[in-house]
Amino acid sequence: MANIPADQAKVLALRAEYPILDQQWGNTKLVYLDNAATTQVPTCVLNRIITHYQTDNANVHRGIHRLSERSTAALEEARSVVASFIGASDPRSIVFTSGATSAINQVARGLESQLGPGQAVVVTALEHHANFVPWQQLCARTGASFIVAPLTEAGDIDREALIRILEENSVALCAFAHVSNVLGTVVPVAELTALAHSYGAKVLVDAAQSIRHEPVDVASVDCDYLVFSGHKMMAPTGIGVLYGKPEALECMEPSVFGGEMVAQVRFEATSFESLPLRLEAGTPNYVGAIALAEACAYLQRIGRSWIGEYERELLYALEEKLGRMGAVTILGDPEQRAGCLSFVVPGVHPFDIAQLLDTLGVAVRSGNQCAQPLLHQVYDVRQVVRVSPAFYNTQEELDQFVGALEKTLAVLSA
Ligand code: ALA
Repeated sequence: MANIPADQAKVLALRAEYPILDQQWGNTKLVYLDNAATTQVPTCVLNRIITHYQTDNANVHRGIHRLSERSTAALEEARSVVASFIGASDPRSIVFTSGATSAINQVARGLESQLGPGQAVVVTALEHHANFVPWQQLCARTGASFIVAPLTEAGDIDREALIRILEENSVALCAFAHVSNVLGTVVPVAELTALAHSYGAKVLVDAAQSIRHEPVDVASVDCDYLVFSGHKMMAPTGIGVLYGKPEALECMEPSVFGGEMVAQVRFEATSFESLPLRLEAGTPNYVGAIALAEACAYLQRIGRSWIGEYERELLYALEEKLGRMGAVTILGDPEQRAGCLSFVVPGVHPFDIAQLLDTLGVAVRSGNQCAQPLLHQVYDVRQVVRVSPAFYNTQEELDQFVGALEKTLAVLSA
């Protein structure tokens, strides 16, 4: 377990990189607990963006002047840093996208011509809409079956049910979240990938909710595709990654067309560039990619295993504190939880809770968390309150949150 006093000193030092966290709202101090939606960006990443614009900015892969060469070199260096961050040996397996959502859509479009009736795509009941709707739509377009693997009562993937699905169907692809954005369930993606592969299915892992605090190593998970977004790991919005094994990217057809992804364009026909450019049409968000690489280096410097351990400690402390509040029902009790938890208070609307918490300085997310199938069809609730600490949060902030929640519930139940 992480060492508490040493952690406190480390966290306080880290917070100096986040002026946004140091805000007073009236009499209360801001407590930001909505990190599963967006994490804050440290000064070193912001400075990297400024430096690039001030010294090296020019379009990439398009010019022979020095600025363009420097900008291109910075982008390609970023590709290598991101590859090594997730254990990918070949930087060409990294495609920059605008985020996890666009990466998943790109894979779904790219595999469309290979799917048809008689085949199936499997997702799980805990997926975010971004890893659910693109596959559902793909199946509707192609005639393939769309199958949702169920959960156990605790909120883990039901392995036996998944095995039955794989035995009874010709599954072309399974799409699994690594960590649920509602329950915080940590999905054993390496084990499930091996299982899916043994039935001949490809696997896409949505690492949007795990990339900051869980070990994400594509070599050991052995997935065919893995996606994540910068804005959940201390990088800016608008940048994300599609990782693919070379053969898995090769077999995708490009679905976005434009400059730089082409080899030859003629009146009659067009041929395409090799990977990864073939899947990066138009001017890429190269400054975003450079900032993402800076965020990777920053997380490495802090220590990725420390981040995982410390964040888990916060989350379990939170679970315990909420568990002591009789009125609160936490959704799920998975084998392993990371990143976030969600709760309801019978008879009280989650929007009201989040709104009153905000007046007390606490930022949490309320709503359906972009996971309507999980909430409506598994838990039979419409909305929840979600709390998601990050490594810059402190135990004192959790206490402030719990105190604010007690006041909020007292007001709302009066
Ligand atoms: N995917 C983000 C969330 O779960 C936006 O809040």
